[in-house]
Amino acid sequence: MDKSFPADFVFGAATSAYQIEGAFDEDGRGKTWWDTHNKDDFGNPTGDVGDVACDHYHHMKEDVQLMKYLGLQTYRFSVSWVRILPKGTGEINPLGVEFYQNLITELLENGIEPAITIWHGDLPVQLDQIGGWKNPATIDAYIKYSKVLFDLYGDRVKIWFTHNEPWCGAFLGPDAFDDQLLIAHHMLIAHAKVIRLYRNHPQGNGRIGIVLNMSRQYAKTPHPLDQQARQNVDGFLNRWFIEPVLLGEYPQDMVKLYQDKNKIKEMDFSEFHLLKEYPSDFLGINMYSCAIQMFDKTNELFAAKEFRKKNTKYTEMGWPICGSSLYDLLKEIHDNYPRIPIFITENGGAFPDNIEKYGMVVDDDRIEYLYDHLKSVLNAVQDGIPVERYYVWSLMDNFEWGLGFSKKFGIIQVNYETLQRSVKKSGYYYRKVLQERRLIGEEEF
Ligand code: BGC
Repeated sequence: MDKSFPADFVFGAATSAYQIEGAFDEDGRGKTWWDTHNKDDFGNPTGDVGDVACDHYHHMKEDVQLMKYLGLQTYRFSVSWVRILPKGTGEINPLGVEFYQNLITELLENGIEPAITIWHGDLPVQLDQIGGWKNPATIDAYIKYSKVLFDLYGDRVKIWFTHNEPWCGAFLGPDAFDDQLLIAHHMLIAHAKVIRLYRNHPQGNGRIGIVLNMSRQYAKTPHPLDQQARQNVDGFLNRWFIEPVLLGEYPQDMVKLYQDKNKIKEMDFSEFHLLKEYPSDFLGINMYSCAIQMFDKTNELFAAKEFRKKNTKYTEMGWPICGSSLYDLLKEIHDNYPRIPIFITENGGAFPDNIEKYGMVVDDDRIEYLYDHLKSVLNAVQDGIPVERYYVWSLMDNFEWGLGFSKKFGIIQVNYETLQRSVKKSGYYYRKVLQERRLIGEEEF
């Protein structure tokens, strides 16, 4: 196997605003739901919160130097909606605008291409209070916010992601299933409307797409009931989003399933055609794991449950490690849908990171994880599947949402007491891959 990545393959790393920035009450920033989560009635933390996080807001230049040291060609970050529009709509906050202007300048001056995620999970609290994505008013607010970003940064930023992981935005929330479907519906329409906005924008001459979390599903056996279980979970997790985005339609088998089970409420389809009319330039995929499904009659909706094989390795999140499934996932997408450039927008693993030598985290398990997944990417590229980019998750340890700082995904360690950054062994590994532009085995490293 030729181990070289093509000359035009692009490597980077990803983060998101709330997970790294901190500076939660500085320079006019507004509030998101995450700012109030894990705090008592007086605003005191009752658990981990992102008030300080990695304090990237104040360490931005240092962090860009680390990216440069690693040899990143591109950096995927999200803009904090409430730094730009503190109340979600209305007044623009000049200091928030300036922060991202400075970040973009710093990146470009260091030869790193900025790639912006418009929304990565941190909805302004004012929009949350009116029902979040359930309320179509949030779609309008999101379009206005996106326009502000295109106006401000569109001249220098040429890679845009609409949403990060609408599946998580819809299905990890507290709402009933029919409302979750409505949230997903609104997010999909919002995505298409932002693509339309970009196409008609004077600075809209870059590339824009969405980021979906996807995970290859397998059936435990060829038995039709196991096959059906796989089909249903795949429909729920993957196809419910990829088909509207790439084909402009929901998967019919899932629509029927949800209708039969009385799970879909009235939804407005009057603007759904925009998904067909305004296709994406690429598909972003966040891939962390895979699953095997088997028939389970107690699961009323999907008749499925996950089967866990013996001898499978898991990350600290409890997610099976399945590097070769990334190849299967890419192949499945390539075989079943129209050809579209693919970016791996997130891939990485949480590991205990408790082995240190000479002050360096020796995270051989993460190196093995990266190797296995990069191998799948390279195999896919060599088989003619148009995978163009790979972003590791994450540049640095950060606030892992509901799990706080307990789970670490970084290739750079962050000491949350001192805020000191240290490149982990996996960071040095990734650096070498990027320098040599080839798949490097653990034995070589
Ligand atoms: C999200 C990240 C998150 C990561 C690991 C993805 O779902 O985009 O924000 O930290 O997975 O859980």
